[in-house]
Formats: sequence, C-alpha cells, structure tokens
Amino acid sequence: MQTILILDHGSQYTQLIARKVREANVYCEIHPYNKIPEITDEVKGVILSGSPYSVTDKDAPKTDLSLFKGKLPVLGICYGAQYMVHCAEGKVEKSKIREYGRANLKSVDNSCVLMQGVRMNSQVWMSHGDTILELPEGFKVICSTENVDNAGYRIEGEDTYAIQFHPEVYHSEDGLTLLRNFVEKICKCDCSWTPKNFVESTVKELKEKLGEDKVVLGLSGGVDSSVAAMLLNKAIGKNLHCIFVNNGLLRKNEFDSVLESYKDMGLNVKGVDASQEFYAVLKDVTEPEKKRKAIGAKFIDVFDAQANAITDVKWLAQGTIYPDVIESSSVKGPSQTIKSHHNVGGLPDYMKLKIVEPLRSLFKDEVRRVGKELGLKQELLGRHPFPGPGLAIRILGDVTEEKVRILQKVDNIFIEGLKNAGLYDKVWQAGAILLPIQSVGVMGDERTYERVVALRAVESVDGMTADWSHLPYDFLAKISNEIINRVKGVNRVCYDISSKPPATIEWE
Ligand code: XMP
Repeated sequence: MQTILILDHGSQYTQLIARKVREANVYCEIHPYNKIPEITDEVKGVILSGSPYSVTDKDAPKTDLSLFKGKLPVLGICYGAQYMVHCAEGKVEKSKIREYGRANLKSVDNSCVLMQGVRMNSQVWMSHGDTILELPEGFKVICSTENVDNAGYRIEGEDTYAIQFHPEVYHSEDGLTLLRNFVEKICKCDCSWTPKNFVESTVKELKEKLGEDKVVLGLSGGVDSSVAAMLLNKAIGKNLHCIFVNNGLLRKNEFDSVLESYKDMGLNVKGVDASQEFYAVLKDVTEPEKKRKAIGAKFIDVFDAQANAITDVKWLAQGTIYPDVIESSSVKGPSQTIKSHHNVGGLPDYMKLKIVEPLRSLFKDEVRRVGKELGLKQELLGRHPFPGPGLAIRILGDVTEEKVRILQKVDNIFIEGLKNAGLYDKVWQAGAILLPIQSVGVMGDERTYERVVALRAVESVDGMTADWSHLPYDFLAKISNEIINRVKGVNRVCYDISSKPPATIEWE
C-alpha cells in the first residue's frame, strides 16, 4: 500500500498532519524520528513534523536524513524545515519577532509544484521560536510573510520542500491544498485510500490471518468495538464470538436496546448481565482511580469466564484505534496518564490469546466512515463517546444501585431532550453527574433536602480539549424542570460551564 511516513519530533500537531494526509485519501503512518522503519518501495514520501525543541538545543531530535533525503520526496514542517537548513549549515536562530499565530503570505512562488493553488495573502499559522535567517546554497525561497522571509523553500535538484508554518492546522487556509500537492503531485500517490478500499483489504487480510480460527471480542456499545465486530463478522462470520457485558453502569435501557441492535446486525453475540457483581466490588469505593481499577478487574473476570466457555478460541479481537497506538509509541513515550483510560483493553497474559486489532491504523472519524460503509446503524454510529467505567465515574463518591437508577433517569431526560431538540449531533458528548451533596428546596408547601445533579455537554474534536456547549437557555430550563418534576430525590440542577483544560470532561 502506498504510504507516507511522518516522522514525529514531538509536535502537538503531528496527528493532525496524518489526518490531513488521510483526508487526501493517502495512507500514512507516524513514527518517532529515532525509530525510522525500513524504507520499502511502498513509502512514497516523508514528512518531518514540528517540535517543541530548537535545532540548537543540545537534546534536539536529530533525524538521520541520509536514509531518505534526496532519494524520496521530503516535506519539512516548522522544526523539520529548520532542521534541514541547520544540517546544511544554513543559519537558524531564535526569532526576534514573535512568530505565533496568524500571518499572511506576502509572496508565493506558484511555479513551485508545492505552492500551486496556494493564494497570495492567504492566511497561514505560525508557531515557532526559531527562524531561518540564511538559506544554504541550492535552497530556493518559495514563500514569505511580512516577518518571515524564508517561510518556505525547496532544494534544487531534489524533491525536498519545507515550510515554517503549519499547513495541517485549520487556520492555514490553503494548507490542505499544499499537503495535497505534496502527496499527489510530488509523491505521485494515487489517492485511492478510501473506506471502501479499507474494508475490502482488511476483510481479505483477516480471512487469511484467521482462517478457521475462533475469535472472541468484547462489545461495548461504542463505535470502535461495533465496527471491529462488523469487519470480523464479514471476514469469519460465526467464528466470531462477541460478548456484551452489562456492568450495571450503562445508560437507561442501553443493555437491551444495544443487544437487540447487535442481533439485528447478524452478530453472534452473547449478553451477560453481571450488574450485581460490579455493584458488589464497588461497594464503599469512593476514589475515582480505585473505581476504575475495580471495574476493570471485574470486567476481566467476567470476560475471561465467558471466553473460557468457548472451546478452542484462539484470538482476542480489540477495537484499538490509531491514537492509542501512537500514544504508546510517541517520541516521549506515553504522555502522562491523567486518568487510567482504556482500562478495559488490557487483558491478562494468562489468557494466552493472540491479539487481532482490525482498526489499529484508523482515526476515530475514519472508524465512523468505515462503519458507515459497512452499514452500521446511525444510532450506533452517531453515539456520543461513553466511558468504559460508565456511570460509576459520574456518581461522585460511592456507587449504589439506587444512585445508578436516579442518574439513569436524569441522564435519559437530558439525552432524549437533546435528541428531540435536534441538538444531540451538535454536541460531542453529554451526560449527567450525581453530586455527593444535598441541597434545600421547596416543593409545594414542603421544604425538601435532596440531591443535586450537574449536566455536562461539550464540543470537541477528539476529547483532548473541549469547550462547554452553549446550549440554549430555553432548552436548559425545560430539561431542568423535567428532571426536578420527574426524578424523585433530585431538587436542583446545575450546568457545567468549564472547558478542558483546565477541567476534564468527566468529573472523576
Ligand atoms: P476526560 O474526563 O479525561 O475525558 O476529559 C476524555 C474522554 O475520555 C472519556 N473517559 C474515559 N473513557 N475509560 C474510558 O473508556 C475511562 O476511565 C475514561 N475516563 C474518561 C471521557 O468520557 C471523554 O470522552
């Protein structure tokens, strides 16, 4: 498969470069700059990412350019651009003028293939502390901005190009055009990497890899595990055994309705209601991380028992997606774990199953596109993300069955309300939180002393950063009324107006 290699020097935007390249229907992979894979015939070009380092720092990432430069098309971005100049003994120095944020191109060499269709005065996004003061011999300027003369260059006699701005970010208006020029016209990729294409080649690979073997997969109701199941089902049919565990912490009626959907999709799925076992291990546990660990461990217990009951099962399928893979192999290793996410993923070694991960190379939006291609129902496809530990981390303090019931009712009013008002698809994720406090209220002639819930709705692209959704006041008023009138035990509703960072999406 035609591939573009993206060498990561630690920039916060590296994943975005990959997403943009894939938007151009070209497959690409991110690798740390110091772990360059073998450059096979399939590699059509290399992109050097930006970096938080300055090229003059002692511990700056030093990519071995000799492996590909001059042999394959190369595009350096930001640090990548400065690094190639530095290696060729040009002059890179700390910039005197701030070079962050918006700038406009004041000259563009449209005769350079990379710059075709990139407009004069179009906006570009700068984010660097260094700047290229002098280009080495043979390096030709291809664009400039008001403050940056050498905003981009090409190297004569090679397919090597570089720019100091970030074409991958939304604010660089013609950034996608530039990246398309690189992959299409310079690397000569045929741009045929589409969801349909992905489904066909993955199903074929899975058939070859798995043969007549049995595979077990844990379904969660989320998009990733559902799409993984559909791909495997297409490849091996009844040899795929799916297990859907009710941990008692799902949304109202979710276990039954999702199980039905899975059966409709023709999946060989077994629903296991283990709610009481989960409540038992959660008894009196109040600390968020302890809740996650207890739920993770119980899930493994239940899943392991079910998997063992399937004779001769050889493989464990997981819905791991690309951001999880990059996260664990990035330049600096896994980023600091703020919460122990993905806790349901890790199964113990003693299970002795081989792992198959059909979505390992996909980003979330690509998983959705593949799901759509496979005919996954919109109700599963468009679902908001929901954490593995479910409502347990939205019940602050200890978790009881009664609290789960209350929260399920509140959450259901909120979510159904969003759907009925046509707001559900505009919000990235929404839910309700049960607070560990009571407040005074008045209902009829009586003074009440009851529970408080918070509603949370956020806009986001990937959950890494998020802003609170500016839901209409009228809508919030209606939902608040409905919750207080219909859910016994709740007399106050708040709306969370914190963004991430510094807050997180979940409260625990
Ligand atoms: P935070 O709260 O870190 O959440 O801003 C970011 C995204 O991750 C989800 N999340 C989890 N998902 N297990 C999961 O599978 C977890 O323990 C967990 N904690 C948070 C959260 O719902 C949001 O989508």
